[in-house]
Amino acid sequence: MLAQIRLFPEQASTIAAEIDNLYSFIVGITVAISAVTAVLLIYFAIRYRRRRVDEVGPVIHGSMALELVWTGIPLLIVLVMFGWSASLFFGYAIAPADAIDIYVTGRQWMWKVQHPDGQREINELHVPVNQPVRLLLTSEDVIHSFFVPEFRVKQDALPGRYTTLWFQATKPGVYHLLCTEYCGTDHSLMVGKVIVGDAASHQQWLSSKADLSLALRGRQLFLKFQCVSCHGADADARGPRLENLYRTRRPLADGSSVNVDESYYIESIRNPRAKVAAGYQPIMPPFTDDQMKPDELLAVLAFLKSAKSGDIPSRNEQASPPAVDPSTGKPKEGENK
Ligand code: CUA
Repeated sequence: MLAQIRLFPEQASTIAAEIDNLYSFIVGITVAISAVTAVLLIYFAIRYRRRRVDEVGPVIHGSMALELVWTGIPLLIVLVMFGWSASLFFGYAIAPADAIDIYVTGRQWMWKVQHPDGQREINELHVPVNQPVRLLLTSEDVIHSFFVPEFRVKQDALPGRYTTLWFQATKPGVYHLLCTEYCGTDHSLMVGKVIVGDAASHQQWLSSKADLSLALRGRQLFLKFQCVSCHGADADARGPRLENLYRTRRPLADGSSVNVDESYYIESIRNPRAKVAAGYQPIMPPFTDDQMKPDELLAVLAFLKSAKSGDIPSRNEQASPPAVDPSTGKPKEGENK
């Protein structure tokens, strides 16, 4: 009977055991201090109770030694908690370089997932085991919070902002995917599954869902939103060429420079005049959430991150990219990448 009661969800990611150790430490200290306090409270209440109606207690002037001890010991304990939590937090703040990127959009009331090769799913997230996975999260409406209890990871998905979360699953299986921020009527129904498969079965799932790659979809949107009219591969383009930029450092018009990362791409689409590239005029109009939906922005982002020399279309290219059959919108045979 007792064995069936689970205090904690299964540990299914690399960080889970470390989080649980820290958690047990904090709970253990809290229980121990509470127990000592309660026992002393009861003991003192009996030991020093008033025995006669006119009894007056002795006058006490305090004890420096006692004050130092009961200030110093708790201070040391909370510093240990702080140091331990901070080192765990910083150790897991940045995803490993070989993490695969998956794009997640929350909306009332579902999780929409886009994989780099174009696979899309709703309220399900397929990931391979023993492989770092980095999620880029955003929301189309209100604040949601992405939570996988078995992985011990949680991150808010915020409208207008892009947050990241990473984990490495350690066991194949099906785990809970929850929204832990009250987000309206059907918040409690905003649940899903994380499906962790071994490398082979994950690959099989990927190929069964193969669709237009996310970057390719982003390239179509790049044409659709007319980005190409200023950022095309033409000699007289009014905006900077956007190929081979990801993870480089670029000069800005105000003399400073910027690391080209996801947040710079996103800012340059949502608020293009915030950081203008050196040698260009601040003439680009902003693209709001209404004009370019968050999941469209994520596709454009995937395209820009992957754009190498020759990937940027030129202004006169209006049709769909060549890898796609315009009649079906599906990739042509054998050109799925
Ligand atoms: Cu989304 Cu709660």
